[in-house]
Amino acid sequence: MELIIAKDYREMSRQAATLVAAHIIVNPRLVLGLATGSTPLGTYEELVKMKKKGMADFSLATTFNLDEYIGLGPKDRASYHYFMFHNLFNGLNIRRENINLLNGLAKDPKAECRRYEKAIQKAGGIDLQILGIGQNGHIGFNEPSEVFPTVAHIVDLSEETRRVNAKFFKDKKRVPTQAISVGIGTIMKAKEIMLLANTKEKAEAITEAIEGPVRPQVPASVLQLHPKSVMILTEQAAKGLKHIFYKSNKFSYIEKKVV
Ligand code: PGA
Repeated sequence: MELIIAKDYREMSRQAATLVAAHIIVNPRLVLGLATGSTPLGTYEELVKMKKKGMADFSLATTFNLDEYIGLGPKDRASYHYFMFHNLFNGLNIRRENINLLNGLAKDPKAECRRYEKAIQKAGGIDLQILGIGQNGHIGFNEPSEVFPTVAHIVDLSEETRRVNAKFFKDKKRVPTQAISVGIGTIMKAKEIMLLANTKEKAEAITEAIEGPVRPQVPASVLQLHPKSVMILTEQAAKGLKHIFYKSNKFSYIEKKVV
């Protein structure tokens, strides 16, 4: 696991966008796994800026988002569909047919899960997966549980996640109780994973994920088993890490200071 410590949100976002842009240059047909939430907003802004300057060409890229609320359609401002077009896709030259999103209004959400998994497989799997992390250690909407879910599935959102995500809803009572999320198995099959975290509220989850045991009660801890993952953290999000682990033989951490 590679660890990059950025001094603040802006540097974290720049670092993340630079890595994505580098991937696109190396592989213009990149299959990119995307996350929503406050964390990747700065990264998406940087990518849109890069595209404007002619530094990032998404014309051959494909994207798959991680999750969607059940019951929210594309026109709903709180849906992840709306979020993605508003904050990223409208500013890139990505083809509509290469954008893959879960349908929160699907009549049969289980069938929607199967359709999505097949589409990911058909695209050859995810090359680079961008992740945020919940305060409870969730990745995508894979909430803490007794097992690591493998494929796309319906999730009952935890009270904590609903409370934290209420910031995206004008009417707090509208926060959905369920979502569809790709599974941990699908995430772990990505060739490369990039997890971002910037707030001090994430510090405990980050410490547990990196230095704690691998366990489904902290879903992000599974990333310790991924052969190619990078965490780009602000100093605030990394403040709980005990450096003794960097010397451990178990993982090869490369600590980089971004100034
Ligand atoms: P946030 O959410 O970026 O809004 O903090 C991250 C997540 O829940 O995965």
